[in-house]
Amino acid sequence: MVHQVTSFLNYWLNEVNAHSLQSPFIYSLYTTCIRKDSNKNEFKEIEQTRNRLLHSEMLVKPIDWGAPSTVHSNSSNVRVSAIAKQGLTKPKISRLLNRLIQYSNSKHIVELGTSFGLNTLYMAQSEEVKVTTFEGSKEIADIALTNFEFFKKSNIKLVEGNIDETLPKFIDSRIHIDFAYIDANHRFEPTINYFKLLLKRTHDNSIMVFDDIYWSKEMTQAWNTIKEHPQVTLSIDLFDVGIVLFKPDLSKTHYTLMF
Ligand SMILES: C[S@@+](CC[C@H](N)C(=O)[O-])C[C@H]1O[C@@H](n2cnc3c(N)ncnc32)[C@H](O)[C@@H]1O
Repeated sequence: MVHQVTSFLNYWLNEVNAHSLQSPFIYSLYTTCIRKDSNKNEFKEIEQTRNRLLHSEMLVKPIDWGAPSTVHSNSSNVRVSAIAKQGLTKPKISRLLNRLIQYSNSKHIVELGTSFGLNTLYMAQSEEVKVTTFEGSKEIADIALTNFEFFKKSNIKLVEGNIDETLPKFIDSRIHIDFAYIDANHRFEPTINYFKLLLKRTHDNSIMVFDDIYWSKEMTQAWNTIKEHPQVTLSIDLFDVGIVLFKPDLSKTHYTLMF
């Protein structure tokens, strides 16, 4: 908690807006995609599903992946409503993911950490994209699958199991990743391992989004390591998420942007 508060103060002191952006590429990305939250009304049905989850009395047994959690301790049974309240991203982030995918014209999407599949649904909105999403808790994955069925989504594939085992197998298949959203095991080592594995299948125009970069010291350490990676040319800190791009024609720059 102390880490999150001091990190937010630091972010708040450093954040800049469009007036400070000199590069036409980042100016356009920021003003026409990141900051332009114009797609609020497109997801009413998904938000109704969030609402149902927020009121669900159903119990599930999340797996303890070793990272601190505000939702559960010692893998006890937890109400779906508690996970929906504290363990999911804000709709603002979900909309951002959808806009980034549209802006970059990404087609092959990977999500690590499906949970109930709300962000998956936001990312899979267009039938032109294919989303492969990874979740390790069977009971949670089953709820996500029900949601995908409800929305009649045939462009989502859920891979069940521990990402430490399922992701290397997936990466071994001949796939290209245009967009990856990482919100799974919030620890340093798994996050860096996932980043390195995903890098094997990304390309110059791919985008990766890391959630909860200030969740803990370990996550911030992972974010700092990712930013410094030689293949990362542009990194953007929005506090809730960190975005990295790999375009070789950009000179390595980091931005902390108001969001
Ligand atoms: C924070 S939640 C994801 C929330 C989701 N991004 C959203 O906002 O809709 C993280 C999920 O990742 C899953 N997870 C964490 N570590 C994992 C691992 N090693 N293998 C598989 N799933 C994992 C958890 O079970 C949990 O459901």
